[in-house]
Formats: sequence, C-alpha cells, structure tokens
Amino acid sequence: MELGLKGRVALVTGASKGIGKATAISFAREGAKVVLLARTAADLEVVAREISSEYGVPVLPIACDITIADDVKRAVETVQNHPDFGRLHVLVNNAGSAIRRQDRQLLWEDDDWRADLEIKMIGYLRVIRDFLPLMPRDGTGRIINITGAAGISTWSPALTHGLNNAALNHGTGYLAQDLVAEKITVNAVIPGLIATEWRQYWAENAGSATGVSREEFLEKFCKEKGIISGRWAQPQEVADVIVFLASDRASYINGAKIMVDGGIHVNAR
Ligand SMILES: NC(=O)c1ccc[n+]([C@@H]2O[C@H](COP(=O)([O-])OP(=O)(O)OC[C@H]3O[C@@H](n4cnc5c(N)ncnc54)[C@H](OP(=O)(O)O)[C@@H]3O)[C@@H](O)[C@H]2O)c1
Repeated sequence: MELGLKGRVALVTGASKGIGKATAISFAREGAKVVLLARTAADLEVVAREISSEYGVPVLPIACDITIADDVKRAVETVQNHPDFGRLHVLVNNAGSAIRRQDRQLLWEDDDWRADLEIKMIGYLRVIRDFLPLMPRDGTGRIINITGAAGISTWSPALTHGLNNAALNHGTGYLAQDLVAEKITVNAVIPGLIATEWRQYWAENAGSATGVSREEFLEKFCKEKGIISGRWAQPQEVADVIVFLASDRASYINGAKIMVDGGIHVNAR
C-alpha cells in the first residue's frame, strides 16, 4: 500500500525510546523526514544516527522538555528555520513517563499530581498549539495523540496516567472538530500493555518478586487483565497503526480513538 508519506515532515515527541522510537524509525522507512523530540540529547543522537545511516532521510533531533513552554517555542523555531524542514505535516504526541511509583496515588501531594499531569494533559496541548502554524491546510495535516488503556478502564496504580489519557481521548474529539476547517485530522491511539524498555524491566522485576519467570508472570498478568490476545504488544505493532493514521490512506479517519490493546476493552474482568 502506498502511504504517500515520502518527503513529508513527521515530528514525534518521546522519540528516543519505546513506542516513539519505533514510530520515528517507521516514518523514516516510509521516506518521511523526521523530527525527534525528548529531553535527553544523547539518546536522541543515537536514534538520529540509526535513522540517518539506515534510511538516509533528513533527521532533526531536538532536546526539548514539553513541560517547559520556552523549550517548545525553541523547538518550533528550530524546525521552521531549518532548510530541510520548515513545516510539519504530521505531529505525533507520544512523550510520557513510566509509572514510577507504586504507592497509592490518591494520597500524593498536589505537586506530584501536577508533575504527572503537566507532561501529557498540558504538554500535548502546548505542542499542538505551538506547532500548528507550521502545519499545511491542504488535507495532509495529521495530529496523533498517544493515550493509553488506563484512560478507558481502571489500571492500578495509574490514577494520574488514567486522568491524562482520558483527558486526551476527550481532547482528541474536541480538536478534530476544532481543526476540521483547516483540514487537519486529529486521532488518538490507545496502547494497552507494550513491551517497551521500561516495561521489560517491570515484567522482569515483578516476576522475580513473585518467584516466577518473566514469561510466567506475563501470562498470568495478561489473563488477570483480560487481554484476550494473551500477550503484550511489541512497540512496532503500535507504530504501524500510527504511521497508517498519518498517511493519505487514513484521510477519512477523524476524531477516532483506536485501541491497540489486544482486546482488553472487550473483556470485562
Ligand atoms: N509502554 C506501555 O505499556 C504504554 C501503555 C499505554 C500507553 N503508553 C503511552 O505511550 C507513550 C509512550 O510510552 P513508552 O512506554 O514508549 O514511553 P518510554 O519508553 O518511557 O519513553 C518515553 C519517551 O518520552 C520522553 N519524555 C519523557 N518525558 C518527556 C518530557 N517532559 N518532554 C519530552 N520528552 C519526554 C522520553 O525521553 P526523555 O526521558 O529523555 O525525555 C522518552 O523518549 C506514552 O504517552 C505512554 O503513556 C505506553
């Protein structure tokens, strides 16, 4: 299938690891120019080098914390002023944090709640608002928000992640309507359990804490969660959906919330 992405500019936030990294590489494979955002410059350089040597497309790594307004403004200027880039067809809002604490989130301090909500709930809107002027109004503009299954059902301990993801699922529909006159589609991808680097550590540790192998732990976990496919997904399985939504083939998909979760949502626990 010809996706029509060759020569387009695609920006991925959180592009140095996990789903974001797989997505950035997948855009490059389709011949798109890629802009990579994350906070850690050294990690971005590794991905940028991999993309350049493997696919030979222009790649622009920019160290940027999406919770810092000036950082995002600087990133916009960098893209706008770069001769190979200048504008942006596809914006993938993907940056996020791992679930770092296992304690009861209801009892956190206000600042701890805010720190988590700043990244996705506010950070994603900030990135959209600031990059919007660079997006074409010719039907090629795509915004894709990566939310998560914790925004659909209860995932413990993920109160703040759930609030972020539920808000973004709502915001996706709102923005699809808001931007329809500008011919920019806005969709959400809702991953379930994805085998990113931090999830690999999590499964390894959770297995050894209960005296079983990683595989045994995962099998039991998927059953308990109601993941009907019975396994986690590879980051590439999410990236493939994101790239399709960014393509010309997805021109009539707008305001959608697409679950890539192995069927958690159909199987009540
Ligand atoms: N993995 C899962 O099982 C799963 C499930 C459901 C939903 N999701 C969602 O999918 C998205 C990607 O998850 P993932 O597991 O692939 O993430 P990950 O492996 O933890 O990678 C997160 C990426 O975001 C960057 N990042 C974090 N905070 C940032 C900030 N303030 N500004 C800019 N970049 C930032 C990180 O780099 P730096 O640290 O260098 O900034 C990194 O590149 C997230 O939105 C997550 O909520 C993941």
